[in-house]
Amino acid sequence: MGAIALSGFALSHALEQKAEYEIGYRSQILAETMNSVRNFTNTRVSPLLSPLVETQPTFVPETIPSYTVREVFEHLRKNEEYKDFFYKDALLNPTNLRDKADTFEANIVEQFRSQPGIKNISGFRDSVGEKLFYNARPFSIKNPTCLRCHSTPEAAPKSHIASYGSENGFGWKLNEIMGTQIIYVPASKVFDDANRASALFISIFTGIFALVILLINYMLKRNVLQPIKPMAQLAQKISMDEISAEEAAEFEHEKLAPIVKRNDELGQLGRVFQRMVHEIYAREQQLRQQVQKLRLEIDDVKRARQVAEIAESESFQKLQEEAKAMRNKRDTATE
Ligand code: HEC
Repeated sequence: MGAIALSGFALSHALEQKAEYEIGYRSQILAETMNSVRNFTNTRVSPLLSPLVETQPTFVPETIPSYTVREVFEHLRKNEEYKDFFYKDALLNPTNLRDKADTFEANIVEQFRSQPGIKNISGFRDSVGEKLFYNARPFSIKNPTCLRCHSTPEAAPKSHIASYGSENGFGWKLNEIMGTQIIYVPASKVFDDANRASALFISIFTGIFALVILLINYMLKRNVLQPIKPMAQLAQKISMDEISAEEAAEFEHEKLAPIVKRNDELGQLGRVFQRMVHEIYAREQQLRQQVQKLRLEIDDVKRARQVAEIAESESFQKLQEEAKAMRNKRDTATE
């Protein structure tokens, strides 16, 4: 039972690790896809739309890679299967307030800031009863052209100020970590699958284990215990002196014969047992004969003693004397 529990534990641990790897892999694919969208917008869409930023009264957000990524992801989330997936450029000071990092994300940004070497942080987060896996990368501006709209409101196009105001998303600095690109993937389903798989595996394992034990039990009974039983019975009867030599012989013929024929250890045991039984009965026979002989001898001694006693008795003496006297009388009469 301990072995099953241990292997079950090891298995569920392994499956959980596999689930974690699987989630990590999914989130990585998504992150790479979103990066491709970002690059595409940057190199192909933005150049086409950027003139509009200057001429239109309101900002055309489609020129912004971050906006496009977010929108593409929102389209993906309309699919029921991906509704719990989530992508965010979480910034401490964003232009669009929906990109504002929450406390959890701000904490991650702080970690990236304090340890500049780190390229990736991942783990789990509980969100409204749902367990989410997250994968976060640090975000900083590397291109000075970005600073036009993210340094001071004065430098930004009018449409930008008109749409977003002059409060948010300014004062960013080159190469400084401003936030994190974070992706969320629901973990519960993957873990549920892993748990179901390990439960199934454990029950199959337990079933096979129980079957093997039953089989061993059956084989043990059939091949070992059953052959030993008649020997034990015979031994008990002999020890209680409940069986005659003839009965023992018959018993031996019926029950012991098949065991004695076997080639294994039990057969050997049976043969030893058989020899022992023979010896016991031979010895008993001998003992009986000796007792018989002894009894006869005792009888002889007894008879001799009785004769002697009779001879010694007073009346016998008297009788002898009388007989003697009568013999003398007869002798004198005949002389
Ligand atoms: C023409 C102005 C402009 C330029 C140039 C610009 N941005 Fe933005 N950026 C914006 C606006 C406007 C938003 C808000 C879009 C939205 O509604 O999501 C934004 C949003 C962002 C966001 C999302 C967080 C937030 O502030 O809401 C990131 C990240 C970002 N920009 C990075 C960059 C980078 C990197 C570059 C340079 C490659 C760049 N931006 C160039 C105007 C600009």
